[in-house]
Amino acid sequence: MQFYATGASAARQRSACAIVGIHERAEMTGPARELDRASGGAISRLLRRGDFSGKAGEVLPIMGNLRGPAERVLLVGLGTKKAYGRKAYRRAISAATHWIAKGGAGNAVLYLPAEPIPGLDAYYAARFATEVVATTLYRIPDLKSGKKPPRPKLAKFGIGVRSADLADARRGIRDGRGIGAGMALTRDLANLPANVCTPSYLAGAARRLAKEHRKIRVRVLDERAIRRLRMGSFLSVTRGSDEPPKLIVLEYRGTRRSAAPVALVGKGITFDTGGISLKQPPAMDEMKFDMSGAASVFGAIKALATIGAGVNVVGIIPTCENMPSGRATKPGDIVTSMSGKTIEVLNTDAEGRLVLCDGISFARRFKPRAVVDIATLTGACVIALGGYYCGLFSPDDKLAASLAAAGDRSDDRAWRLPVADEYTELLKSNFADLANVSGREAGAITAACFLWKFTEGLRWAHLDIAGTAYLTGSQKGSTGRPVPLLVDWLLRGD
Ligand code: BES
Ligand code: MN
Ligand code: ZN
Repeated sequence: MQFYATGASAARQRSACAIVGIHERAEMTGPARELDRASGGAISRLLRRGDFSGKAGEVLPIMGNLRGPAERVLLVGLGTKKAYGRKAYRRAISAATHWIAKGGAGNAVLYLPAEPIPGLDAYYAARFATEVVATTLYRIPDLKSGKKPPRPKLAKFGIGVRSADLADARRGIRDGRGIGAGMALTRDLANLPANVCTPSYLAGAARRLAKEHRKIRVRVLDERAIRRLRMGSFLSVTRGSDEPPKLIVLEYRGTRRSAAPVALVGKGITFDTGGISLKQPPAMDEMKFDMSGAASVFGAIKALATIGAGVNVVGIIPTCENMPSGRATKPGDIVTSMSGKTIEVLNTDAEGRLVLCDGISFARRFKPRAVVDIATLTGACVIALGGYYCGLFSPDDKLAASLAAAGDRSDDRAWRLPVADEYTELLKSNFADLANVSGREAGAITAACFLWKFTEGLRWAHLDIAGTAYLTGSQKGSTGRPVPLLVDWLLRGD
């Protein structure tokens, strides 16, 4: 898909389809009125007859006998002016894209009213529009044997803006395209079943990504190399599996070598059975999404490379399966992490922290200016925050605030929960430096506090995306989050 910004009047811009936003119970203004005049009053006639009310997400095509520069006009409802905000804006664009994708229009131009939405300047308006079109057109790489639906004809998408906003809108489109491409990669990887998307498959995907982008370098460490690094904690998770583990290192270099990178550490459990502490059958299939943190690291790095962002980022992905077997780690086993700390594995289902702590220790080699780990870490976080905000943890107030602000700006929200010694206390063990679990209470926080123990001297934050990385039920599938948050934060360089 090709995106562009246009400052031309809606009365002049030629297109196969002009998408026009209409408010409920309000006079038409701006591009809607211009287009109405150019089309000989076709829009106002429809509105007068009561064929279109302007409710949020409503669409109505006007196809025949149109004067004016557009072959079709698609009215899309924005809801009342009072309730107009980011949500109605996104919903309108998604509904319009949905309709156009089913039809024959090869190109479209979007006109939504210029009245500013709080917190949505020309940059974010164009970025969100681009992101929403890209996400709406996304299709799951399914393995259905029937005929695939034809690919949408829509190939060119214009965003109509005031000419004073052209430069900001162009930046928004550039970043929105990158984020859209990154999210699509994240979703593709996470949606694949675990018998396809193994640690070796992820290693191959990393190599492909590095081939596509000049500024991305990849290194894949195999089990022997992981053992040489003394990652006893990571290795304890893979023991029960027949699939070889990998440690994937993706480096994006967008600025001078001497600039310290940000390290993104992604949990890459390609399937989490729970191991010997076996999970219950209901919804266990969803544990193929347990590599969503890793997938979001792939997506963020792809987005940065597509944008050509001027930052250095290193993605670190410890990836393996968590399986039961005769060789699997047993509850009570004690393992030695790369940091030298010993861990009593009381529950083999708390495996994410076991791979991440070694990933974080490994990140130290890059002398990072910040380390952010991203993980579908706890069911407790799903209970605490549900599917809207992900969990954000950091002892560093400034880092936490800057990540939360990036989430707010990009509509990919994160809510801060505490890390504090009182919770770390709960991880005491009689037999090792620490246990990998405590009781049921504050499960998302004690998991974060476990990781905290491995971050001394680092500027570190943790995102628990267990509730936000994928949808369940009839909408089951990866969301591509938190790629927008990560990229927004990295682009600000903070
Ligand atoms: N991958 C799961 C967390 C998870 C649960 C993600 C539900 C998405 C939905 C993680 O490895 C896990 O099993 N965590 C345990 C920790 C417990 C044993 C302390 C959990 O949340 O039950
Ligand atoms: Mn688990
Ligand atoms: Zn897990």
